[in-house]
Amino acid sequence: MQKIIIIGATSGIGRELARIYAGEGNLVGVSGRRQDLLYSLQLEFPNHIVTECFDVTTPQSITHVQSLIRKLGGLDLLIYNAGYGDVSDALDWEIDRQTVEINVNGFISIVHYTFQYFVAHGGGQLATTSSIASIRGNSQAPAYSASKAFQSVYFEGLYMKAKKAGWPIYVSDIQPGFVDTKMAKGEGKFWVASPEKAAHQIAEALRKKKWRAYITRR
Ligand SMILES: NC(=O)c1ccc[n+]([C@@H]2O[C@H](COP(=O)([O-])OP(=O)(O)OC[C@H]3O[C@@H](n4cnc5c(N)ncnc54)[C@H](OP(=O)(O)O)[C@@H]3O)[C@@H](O)[C@H]2O)c1
Repeated sequence: MQKIIIIGATSGIGRELARIYAGEGNLVGVSGRRQDLLYSLQLEFPNHIVTECFDVTTPQSITHVQSLIRKLGGLDLLIYNAGYGDVSDALDWEIDRQTVEINVNGFISIVHYTFQYFVAHGGGQLATTSSIASIRGNSQAPAYSASKAFQSVYFEGLYMKAKKAGWPIYVSDIQPGFVDTKMAKGEGKFWVASPEKAAHQIAEALRKKKWRAYITRR
């Protein structure tokens, strides 16, 4: 039985991942801002889900992660899946600001803490749901693709750091294409996967400890 935290598990890909891991009998700590959705997930798997309701942009986010680790009695895998993005045709400042707060500042704070936790506790596995959008600039959502590039490149650095130091810390950068959630916005969507299919392929890539995985494999 693994002890797993999914940051951003109230809906979409994160919720499906939580269902897979809890259904396999793991102990899963889930977070998000919508308490009612965390509660309904816990009701589905009362013995396998613990919850913590918080915003990743709050200065107290690490305290909440520590609380989840305490509730689980340790940690084997953390997936930073919380994310935000929107089409920003007029280059809207509020969209750009919020994107960076959640996908960069919230991300690095929790990922940095968790990496150090694994260094101090003999290892573990760390994953992020970045995006295939990380590989190019995008005129419809410039901050989103830039924020995902940040996640992806930071993870590449962490992967190399752990490998060089010989630490048993496995780092996985998960890059989905379009997945049918409220996050999939913009014109011309193609090869859209269901959240269930995406989550199954992500769980499989993480089982294999892949350092980078494209979802779907197509
Ligand atoms: N759907 C796609 O096509 C696609 C493609 C590539 C990558 N991704 C990435 O996949 C991840 C999951 O997205 P999704 O498609 O499953 O969309 P989603 O259903 O909107 O899920 C986003 C999750 O992030 C959480 N979240 C957002 N802002 C937060 C905040 N400030 N504090 C705490 N939690 C926050 C949400 O919880 P609350 O709202 O309850 O806080 C929710 O659980 C994202 O990182 C996204 O960028 C998605």
